Order: sequence, then structure tokens, then C-alpha cells
Amino acid sequence: MDFEKSILCIGAGYVGGPTMVVIANKCPQYRVTVVDINQDKVDAWNSENIPIYEPGLDKLVKKVRDKNLFFSTEIDKGIKAADIIFVSVNTPTKNYGQGAGKAADLQYWERTARQILANSGRDKIIVEKSTLPVRTAEAMGRILHETENGVRFEVLSNPEFLAEGTAIKDLENPDRVLIGSKDTESGIKARKEIVEIYANWVPMDRIIESNVWSAELSKLTANAFLAQRISSINSISALCEKTEADIDEVAYAIGTDSRIGPKFLKSSVGFGGSCFKKDILNLVYICQNYGLDEVADYWESVVKINEWQERRFVRNMLLNMFNTVAGKRIALLGFAFKANTGDTRESPAITITRELFEEHAEVVVSDPKALENARIDLKDVEDSIIFEDDPYKASEGAHAIAILTEWELYKDLDYGRIIKGMVQPAFIFDGRNILDHKGLFSMGFNVFAIGKAPLTHI
Ligand code: NAD
Ligand code: UGA
Repeated sequence: MDFEKSILCIGAGYVGGPTMVVIANKCPQYRVTVVDINQDKVDAWNSENIPIYEPGLDKLVKKVRDKNLFFSTEIDKGIKAADIIFVSVNTPTKNYGQGAGKAADLQYWERTARQILANSGRDKIIVEKSTLPVRTAEAMGRILHETENGVRFEVLSNPEFLAEGTAIKDLENPDRVLIGSKDTESGIKARKEIVEIYANWVPMDRIIESNVWSAELSKLTANAFLAQRISSINSISALCEKTEADIDEVAYAIGTDSRIGPKFLKSSVGFGGSCFKKDILNLVYICQNYGLDEVADYWESVVKINEWQERRFVRNMLLNMFNTVAGKRIALLGFAFKANTGDTRESPAITITRELFEEHAEVVVSDPKALENARIDLKDVEDSIIFEDDPYKASEGAHAIAILTEWELYKDLDYGRIIKGMVQPAFIFDGRNILDHKGLFSMGFNVFAIGKAPLTHI
């Protein structure tokens, strides 16, 4: 079959993989190829065991793989054949040199740009899918226009807003798709080509067009605003614990104001995930570079409150368990940074496990999807941590349980059975406020939730 367009995505990760799976499903008329330098990852995409757990993803991959969707490590070949190249490589926080700890590490992205340049014999549209500092497209343009052979590249920004665990839903039914280009004739023409792809399934009123810098900056700003809401509600949770106000009641009361809205007001042990912290620190770094120190400090405080919330959770455990957890078995239920994913990047569970371990607790980590990643995150202390699939076994003989991820299954556990196997007095720390606290208290648990007055028998 002849395809209308040949689309390439460089980077077969959490974003590149699912995004291209959805494009291939919605647009059978396009040939979609996803390439990556990681052979194991590409092999996994081509196998029964795809490398990412996302509800609904498996089924969609099977529908289109080897029909109009292909996974490969042949990057040069892919570039040569492509009309449109989405770049979705990782952009982690730089951990060396200038800007270490804050700036985005753009080495993967730059390497990709040079590889595109070396393998392009005709004009192409390059789409930034990765989250990048504002004005990256300018640097990209400079690298790509070093060519003498007359090949023209149009660099666009089309940031991705999907959240893990709901990636397919978010991609199939996005709040909006944002496409930024230069305001030149060729820039606008390229932008229309990308609009055309999404218009196959996204209503036109949800496709936003903007200049390229606005698109780049909107992505960082969206993540900063989302994370800011969590830090805001978490900061108030600490005040609730002091005053007997209830954080869920406060969140509900303020969220019913249509100007505030109800989403992203769930108080928790802290936000995790690969992007919030990285993107905010990147924003902080950019502001500092432009001499906007007050703006930088404002956004940095969102990350600081989050780190404080994680540490506060452990401090609360210690304080309430008679100031020591040494030698005590503590079952951590949930290790993923949120429910419905096996991803543990920047999960608050990592800090909490390590802090409890340093306090000489016997830590048992349980999670339905994330134990493999948990072992990697805790590699250096792996031998001293117990990993247990079964939450009942994890809780057996424990002094305390802490809920760190809001998996549905933890709501429905038989806590009457669990408390019988625990050391008394039994403690439960609900870091996600998902349990029936009064019910647990009446079973005999001492219950500590985020932003709520403790329910204790001692
Ligand atoms: P990821 O680490 O899961 O995937 C990136 C992939 O790029 C890896 O498989 C890596 O091997 C590959 N890669 C790196 N350099 C390469 C090269 N030169 N050639 C070919 N492949 C290369 O990362 P991700 O979570 O998919 O994130 C990608 C970008 O999207 C980041 O900028 C991130 O901030 C952004 N983003 C992520 C999410 C999310 O939910 N994870 C959501 C929105 C945006
Ligand atoms: C987030 C954004 O929601 C996406 O729009 C964005 O594309 C993505 O980052 C990215 O750029 O990587 P994600 O990190 O996958 O998506 O997950 P979220 O649902 O945003 O949750 C992030 C963290 O905040 C999780 O640890 C979650 O448990 C926590 N959270 C979320 C709360 O503590 N309270 C809330 O009310 C909401």
C-alpha cells in the first residue's frame, strides 16, 4: 500500500511510543515508524511484552503493528524516508557542568538534530515533542541550517500533555493539541501539515496554533501550574493537621468555586513522576538566566514544598511510633508515583523508603506493577529491603502500613484480616487519603492521614 505521509518518531519512550500508536490507529493512511537507540526497548515493542504499562495500549499496538506502525533501531534509514519527524527523546535534568541540577540536558536532543541533518536529502518538518526550554527551536534551527545542500527544515513545537496511566484516553480525547511554528509562510504551511494529522480525530476547536516560543513555554508553564496546585494544597494539609480542619473538605469547598475548579487538589505524600520536578527546575533555571530571580524563587518553592511534604510524612511516622522505627517492620503499599502505572521515576516512595531504611526500619515494599522498577531504584540497598507482591504478606508482622500509591486494590483490602497479623498497636499512615479512616479506627488501627486529625487509641 502507498502511504500518504511517512512519519518518524525518534524516541520510543512513554511519550513517543503511545503517541505514535494512537496516530497509527487513527490514521491508517500514514506510515508511522518509531526508532530508538535502545535495542532492548525496540525488541520489547515488537514483542508480546511491550515495554510500557498503560491501560488500553496493548490492544492498540496489536491492531497496527507491522501494518502501518513499525518499531526499529534503524534511525538513519528512518530519517531518510520521513516527511515529518517527531523528536521525543528524553530531556532529563542536567547533572554536570553549568546549570547542573536545574537546566535541561539537551545532549540527546542535539545529537538527534545532527543525525537528522546528516541523513536528510530533502526538506522535512521537525516537530519538538519532547519538553524543551523556551527558544530551543532557535538552537535547533541553527544546527539544522548548517546544510549547504539546499535542504530546508521547519522546526515546530508540539508539546505533549498526556499523563501516565491515562495516556491513551488523553491522546484519543485531548483537552487540546498545541502546535507552534514560526509566523513565516513556510512555518505556517508546516504547522497546517501537523494540524492535518491531528484533525483526523481531534475536533478543530481543540487544536491550538501559536508561535513556536509560546508552544514551548506553555508546556513548562502547564506542568508548573499543575504541580503548584498540589504543593498549595499540600502546604494547607500541614495546617489542617494542626487545626483539625480536614484537607479533603477544604479542597472540596474551594474546588466548587468555578474559578478554582476541583482537579489537582488531592493532597498527598507529594507529587512524583519524571516531569514535574524536572520541568519546574528548568523553568527556574531559565528565569535565573534572564535575571528574573523573584520569578525563579517563586517556582522553586513549589519543588521545595514537595520535598518537605515527603520528609514530613516520614517525620510523622517516627513521631507517632514512639520516636523510633528501628527494627520495626513497615509495609509500604504502593511504589509507583501514581496509580495505573509501573513508572517509579521521582516517586515519593523512593525518598520515604530510603529515609525509613536510614532509621533502621525493616521496610517491605509492595506494588502491583512497579516492583521491578522499585528494585532498580533501590539497587544499592536491595538486599536490605523486602519486595513483596502480596499486600497481605507484606503487612504480616508489620507495626505499620503506609499507603504511598492510590491503587484501587488498596481500598478494598480486608483490613480486619490484616490487623490481626500485625504487631499491636497497629498504625496506618494513609499518604493518599483513599481509605475509610473511621472504619479502620473502629477496627483498632491508629490512623494518620494527610491533612486530617489523627484517630488514635493510644
Ligand atoms: P523516555 O526516557 O521514556 O523515552 C525517551 C527515549 O528516547 C528512550 O527510549 C531513549 O532510548 C530514546 N533516545 C534518547 N536519545 C536518542 C537518540 N539520539 N536516538 C534515538 N532514541 C533516543 O522519556 P519520555 O517519558 O518519553 O519523555 C520524552 C520527552 O517527553 C521528555 O522531554 C519529557 O519531558 C516529555 N514528556 C513526558 C511525559 C511523560 O508522561 N513521561 C509527558 C509529556 C511530555
Ligand atoms: C503530568 C501532567 O499531568 C501531564 O499533563 C504532563 O504531560 C506530564 O506530567 C509530563 O509532562 O510528563 P504525570 O506526571 O504522568 O502527568 O501524572 P499526574 O497525573 O500529573 O501526576 C503527577 C503526580 O502528582 C503524581 O505523583 C500524582 O499522584 C500527584 N498528584 C496529582 C497529587 O498528589 N494530587 C493531585 O491532585 C494530582
